[in-house]
Amino acid sequence: MACKTSYANFTVAVFCLLFLISPLAFSQQLDYNFYAYTCPYVENIVSHGLWKAIQNETRIAASLLRLHFHDCIVDGCDASILLDDTKNFKGEKNAGPNRGSARGYEVIDDIKAEVEKACPSTVSCADILTLAATQAVYFSGGSYWSVPLGRRDSITASQKAANDQIPSPFESLEDITAKFVSKGLDLNDVVVLSGAHTIGFAQCFTFRRRLFNFGGSGKPDPTLDSSMLKNLQTVCPNGDVKKTNNKIAPLDSQTINKFDNLYYKNVMSNTGLLESDQVLLRDPKSTSMVTYYSMNPSMFSDDFATSMVKMGNIGILTGEEGEIRKNCRFVN
Ligand code: HEM
Ligand SMILES: *[C@@H]1O[C@H](CO)[C@@H](O)[C@H](O)[C@H]1NC(C)=O
Repeated sequence: MACKTSYANFTVAVFCLLFLISPLAFSQQLDYNFYAYTCPYVENIVSHGLWKAIQNETRIAASLLRLHFHDCIVDGCDASILLDDTKNFKGEKNAGPNRGSARGYEVIDDIKAEVEKACPSTVSCADILTLAATQAVYFSGGSYWSVPLGRRDSITASQKAANDQIPSPFESLEDITAKFVSKGLDLNDVVVLSGAHTIGFAQCFTFRRRLFNFGGSGKPDPTLDSSMLKNLQTVCPNGDVKKTNNKIAPLDSQTINKFDNLYYKNVMSNTGLLESDQVLLRDPKSTSMVTYYSMNPSMFSDDFATSMVKMGNIGILTGEEGEIRKNCRFVN
């Protein structure tokens, strides 16, 4: 920029003025270079923090990917999920789908603290979570894609919204799809993003009803592979249910921590863990997509990136909306 030339004429001055105010005036959309001048190393800071966290616990990559999904699907990608409960509102952390299940808050706190040291009050928690989720896929052996940034943080959160808007593994494909559609996503995104279940774990209470008395039949879910059934019955026995509700099984038992397309092969061979995974074979359109991705790892990779960017745009706050939280757990 010629903003500092000594002979700046009127045209240059006007141009410079536009350039300087443009982040305020035209900021309704996200930008791939949003922090290029204000926090150029933000991606490195996030990846360093994430790398340390993954060295400590491989699963954390999956947990952060899920955290981003649970943020975006509830009133948009605005870091509302990261807010602790206060006197004024009950937040999302203790909503049914999150309590005792959503993980990774401490990792985001640590990364945010590092980012604040480098660039105080500049980078939103929503963007940090988006970057962490994206890089988590890369660190798990998936592809890398760059994400547009510039989200701002909410100043409130809603437990009710989280309970209403996060899909449940016991819902029909129609109901799950309807929740995605209400956020501007579609059935394709449901199938593609469900591929995230190629990493991470689920607790017994999220799939136990498939194992013994499916739908009151007195029998296991007929769409569950019999040797997988035996294994799961050992992890999650029928007896002392409370004691084993929080035991975990891998979502993709073939390549537990690797971000690949084996999720779709599992679904094809009736070894998807959740009902909501196996249910993708209930509809001809989603079945054909599952078949396609099971055979085309690179198309899955590409389409996953596209759907993630789409998901990352849900209900974003930009410009002067919301705020840049100093601590992701509290409004300023
Ligand atoms: C389509 C509807 C979806 C349903 C019904 C669903 C449901 C679930 C459930 C029940 C669990 C296990 C939670 C627990 O036992 O604590 C889980 C885990 C997980 N979900 Fe989903 N999910 C869906 C979509 C997604 C999407 C779109 C993503 C990300 C793009 C995602 C990423 C994950 C990951 C990575 C885990 C493992 C988390 C960990 O190990 O900490 N899920 N999901
Ligand atoms: C390391 O991972 C364990 C879970 O395996 C977790 O309880 C602990 O808080 C993590 N420590 C750090 C420093 O992230």
